[in-house]
Amino acid sequence: MILVVGSTGSLGKRVTRQLLAEGQRVRALTREPNKAADLKQLGAEVMQGDLIDAASLRRACAGADRVIATAHSILGKGKYKSEEVDDAGHRALIDAAKAAGVSHFVYLSVFGAAPDQPVDFFRVKYKVEQHLKASGLSYTILRPTAFMESHAHQFNGKAILEKGKTSLLGNGTKPRNFVAARDAAHFAMLALCDARLKNRALEVGGPQNFTNNQVAELYGKLAGITPKISHMPPSAARMMSVVLKPFEPGVSRIMYINSLPDDAFRETFDATNMLREFPTQLMTLEEFIRERIAEQHRREQ
Ligand SMILES: NC(=O)c1ccc[n+]([C@@H]2O[C@H](COP(=O)([O-])OP(=O)(O)OC[C@H]3O[C@@H](n4cnc5c(N)ncnc54)[C@H](OP(=O)(O)O)[C@@H]3O)[C@@H](O)[C@H]2O)c1
Repeated sequence: MILVVGSTGSLGKRVTRQLLAEGQRVRALTREPNKAADLKQLGAEVMQGDLIDAASLRRACAGADRVIATAHSILGKGKYKSEEVDDAGHRALIDAAKAAGVSHFVYLSVFGAAPDQPVDFFRVKYKVEQHLKASGLSYTILRPTAFMESHAHQFNGKAILEKGKTSLLGNGTKPRNFVAARDAAHFAMLALCDARLKNRALEVGGPQNFTNNQVAELYGKLAGITPKISHMPPSAARMMSVVLKPFEPGVSRIMYINSLPDDAFRETFDATNMLREFPTQLMTLEEFIRERIAEQHRREQ
C-alpha cells in the first residue's frame, strides 16, 4: 500500500493515477474526499486526513508500506498557514510514518531549499528535509523547479490565451527553470521504486530556462497574438507583501518573492547531469504551451 499525501494536487494526482495504472494499491489522502472521486473510481482507497491533524496522519500511515508527500500550503492562511502545514504538519507526517514502520518515504521539497534562503518557504522545506534524514527512514528527496502548470500557465500564459494580456509580479527578467508536472511525476515514480534514489536528494528540472517575460512572449508567438504585458514593480510588490502579511500570509509571501532582486536566489537549472543518470524525454515549454493552446481550441469549439 502506497500512501499519497496531496493526492488531489497537480503532482499528486498524476502520481496516484500512474500508481493505480501499474496495479499498485494506493491510499489517497485529502481533506475533502469529494475532490478525489475520480481517484476512487480508478480504485484508490480515498481517506480523509489533514496535515494539521496528527491523529489522521497516524491512521493514514497505518498499514502503508511507502509514503509520498506531495502536499503544500504556500498560499495558506489561518489554521492552514504554511508554518502549520509545511513545517509542523510534514514533520508530524514523517514521525507517523516512522512509527508505522513505513519502508520508504518520498518528500517533495523545492529547488533551492536551503537554510539561508531569503524566502521562509524554502527554509521550511530544507528543515523538513533535515527532519526526514534524521528520522532513520529510508528516503528520497526531490527538489523540483517551478511547475509549468502553475508558474508558466496559471500565473502568466493562461490570461494571454483568454484575454490577450498578462500582468506579471516584478520585472519578469529573472531567468528561471520550468518543469512539466508530468516530468516531475516521472521522477516521483522513480523515487518510489528505484533503488538508485534511496537516501538521496535529487534536483529535478525541465530542459530550458526562461524569464517570465520570455514565457509571455512565447505564449503570444505560438498563439499568433501580440500580448499586452504589464508589470507590478518590485517596490509595489514589496509594499503589498508588508500590507498583506497579517491576514494573507501566503499572498504576502508571493509578493515578497517577486519583490526580490533577480540575483537574490538562483532559479536556473541545467538538466545535463540529471538526464545522464536518469534519461528521459523532458517536455519543452513550447510543447507545453502548444498543448494548452490545443486545449483552448477544443473548449471554444
Ligand atoms: N507547483 C510548483 O511549482 C512546485 C515547484 C517545486 C516544488 N513543488 C512541490 O511539489 C509538491 C506538489 O505541488 P503541487 O503544485 O502539485 O501542489 P498543489 O497542486 O498546489 O496541491 C496541493 C495539495 O496539497 C494538499 N494539501 C494542502 N494542505 C493540506 C493539508 N492541510 N492536509 C492535507 N493535504 C493538504 C491538497 O489536498 P486537499 O486540498 O485535497 O486536502 C492538494 O492535494 C509540493 O510539495 C510542492 O511544494 C511544487
